[in-house]
Amino acid sequence: MEYRPARVGAKQKTVSERIRMIPESQNKTLHAWQTSSRYWDKYRVLIAEMFAPLTAGLVEEAQIRMGQKVLDIGGGSGEPSLTISRIVGPKGLVMYSDPVAGMLESTQAEASRQGLANIHFRQCSANDLPFADCTFDVVVGRLSAMFFVDPLAAVQQALRVLHKDGCITFAVWGAKDANPFFSSITDVIDKFLNVSEDSDAPDAFRFALPRKLAGILEQANAKNVVEHRLNFQMEAAISFEQFWQLRTEMSETLREKITRLASDQLPTVKQGVADAARKYFESGAMNFPAEALIVSGKKAST
Ligand SMILES: C[S@@+](CC[C@H](N)C(=O)[O-])C[C@H]1O[C@@H](n2cnc3c(N)ncnc32)[C@H](O)[C@@H]1O
Repeated sequence: MEYRPARVGAKQKTVSERIRMIPESQNKTLHAWQTSSRYWDKYRVLIAEMFAPLTAGLVEEAQIRMGQKVLDIGGGSGEPSLTISRIVGPKGLVMYSDPVAGMLESTQAEASRQGLANIHFRQCSANDLPFADCTFDVVVGRLSAMFFVDPLAAVQQALRVLHKDGCITFAVWGAKDANPFFSSITDVIDKFLNVSEDSDAPDAFRFALPRKLAGILEQANAKNVVEHRLNFQMEAAISFEQFWQLRTEMSETLREKITRLASDQLPTVKQGVADAARKYFESGAMNFPAEALIVSGKKAST
């Protein structure tokens, strides 16, 4: 089937129009991501650096190569789209997608700054992919699948837009305890708050349980489903102060939790986090161990 590129600047529904079409909880989530988008833009270079091993893992697992057409779902501040655009080259193409206008606009600006002409942009949710059947060679999502409204429907959509034998690959966080970039803060702050846990709600660790996302790919009829654990070091030349600022700005969950603390509790929490995270800054820079799962499958030929 012929690929029909989305025309950048063509009449698309605005974020508010789209938001009106979806349920209340999803509205809240998308508004939160819209607020987060300015911080994801602010920390774009750091994010690319810290999470680079995830992009490398995705690219390797999906065997992305020159000339391919790749769909990135939930592209956020631009990764893995920007990296993949260089790999597929001028004969290939990347379709960046994200439901949040702020994420899309800042990535579009960055792609033009970098002179990348083979990236196209579409504002859409994973559950409602506006592409023809059998359009792409590969579908990827880095750290986005855990926020899909209905992950099974989203995977079915992703398989629909793939060519026969095309590959779908997601990177999601592994166990919270293996990811002190997150847990060194949440373990401290949660002691001060009444936190309710819903392991199936959209959250960074929704697919941390081994085989949970893989099971959804199988349920959606993907074949050759595999899951690899990826352990890596999350490194950046930043101090604890910069780490604290980055985390408390980028994460809606943390921003919201901080508003629930009494004013005299915040310094105690910050000190507790500094104590818990000290060993990850001993070299003078940030260096956290991290764990992700790379989950992939193929579209069945029939
Ligand atoms: C943690 S960020 C990851 C962004 C980027 N892929 C990265 O790895 O840096 C999650 C992204 O998922 C997007 N997202 C949230 N709900 C979504 C949905 N229903 N469909 C597709 N993407 C969604 C958010 O807007 C956000 O950009």
